[in-house]
Amino acid sequence: MPNQKPTPPQVSGAIPVLGHALEFRKSRETIFERGYAEHGAVFSYKLANQNVAVFGGTQSQRIFFSETDHALNMQEPYRFLQAMFEGALFLAPHDQYLKQRPMVMELFKRQKMLDYLQIMQVEVQKMLDRWGDEGEIEFTDEMNLLVQEVAGYCFLGAEVHEQVGREFWDLYGVLSAALDPILPPDLPLPKFWKRDRAKAKMTAILKPMIAARREAPDQFDDLLQHLVVYTMENMDEISDETIVNLLLALMFAGHETTAGQGAWAVIQLLQNPGYLALVQAEIEEHTTAGEHFDHRAMAKLTHTAWAVRETERMQPSADILMRTVHEDVDLGDFIVPKGWLAQVSADIAHNLPEVWSNPAQYDPLRYSPDRAEDKQDRYSMIGFGGGMHKCTGMNFANNEMIIVVTLLFQQFDVELVTKNPGVERGLGANRPHKTILRYKRKA
Ligand code: HEM
Repeated sequence: MPNQKPTPPQVSGAIPVLGHALEFRKSRETIFERGYAEHGAVFSYKLANQNVAVFGGTQSQRIFFSETDHALNMQEPYRFLQAMFEGALFLAPHDQYLKQRPMVMELFKRQKMLDYLQIMQVEVQKMLDRWGDEGEIEFTDEMNLLVQEVAGYCFLGAEVHEQVGREFWDLYGVLSAALDPILPPDLPLPKFWKRDRAKAKMTAILKPMIAARREAPDQFDDLLQHLVVYTMENMDEISDETIVNLLLALMFAGHETTAGQGAWAVIQLLQNPGYLALVQAEIEEHTTAGEHFDHRAMAKLTHTAWAVRETERMQPSADILMRTVHEDVDLGDFIVPKGWLAQVSADIAHNLPEVWSNPAQYDPLRYSPDRAEDKQDRYSMIGFGGGMHKCTGMNFANNEMIIVVTLLFQQFDVELVTKNPGVERGLGANRPHKTILRYKRKA
């Protein structure tokens, strides 16, 4: 029987041949704003000849996450990441993914997380000590460096990170700069040659480390070692290449995302001094400068945790998630046909007036138990995704951001020199434009 339902209505502004592609490249958020204003939460747009359906609103967001790996495919739209970490995580064939996922979850279990918390505090403190007593700092790049240091120590281990950490991240930068969602990844272009050389070098650095860990697993205690041991104990065979790719996948998923959102968390607090005062009061009550705090003290930093959550809502690093439609999807009033792209937009989900009261307002108290706006619907907050593929590193990232906020405001009076930084939208993650902070160590 022919399909009676229409496809989602198209947002205005398409130009011949290219559709909305130019606007998407320049300022994708305006497509979502206009689409929502013209048609409500479900609409479509065109990237050249590719139709894209936006699954907005709680019902469609639920369908997006529950149909992933069924009618919606996650590998295809992220194929451009394959040159970086082919065969790892959501880029792996589904049966392999199902084997890899518990392994990755194991890396973030409680005992390991407690170790990571210590490392995070050491690294944030090193950053703050480097700043001296007063001055100005560009905070976005600073967060990037910090996140690299934390990931280096947590994932590669102290010994390796101190030997090859900087070189590793430089090579990673080359890989990242060559990501290209449009061009075929094997075109003979200098940036792709550089990418392949960088990947070969990284593999050459990591392979002997993996071999050493296979031989003497007891001598190491970091994420790479856990990966090696887990695969030795639980999986029939996993190649060194796959372990390298898993590690790169974790670096990719967790690095720019945390740096961007962490920088925003601090910026938004500085833009909202009334709420910052609540955060400062609880930091003063539950932590002491110069002393490490444990997970019990962290659990008491509720205002800080809500601030970090409000930043996830208002300045999500990952603002759109994508899938390819493999079978027609019924969204109630509309049908999204096979072959289309499906997207959810955090900007739409996190501003739905039926879920959030006064969504344009910075208001972390909306997460307090008496309001709990985020608990009304499982898929209303999607800064870390949802369903089967929900971010495995969410607690790791949230803890890192809470520690940055805590130690910074525990030890410094800070003000924004760049009052209203804009958003720089990237392929890996969004982040604030360059933002200068002025700081003075507290007496
Ligand atoms: C603020 C920081 C972070 C943000 C905003 C973020 C966001 C996300 C989002 C939105 C997804 C789902 C993607 C999709 O469904 O298309 C995801 C998946 C994932 N993230 Fe994160 N992430 C962050 C930090 C981290 C960290 C620190 C790690 C690990 C070190 C990590 C590891 C992963 C992994 C492994 C997946 C794939 C899960 C799967 O497919 O099963 N993320 N992340």
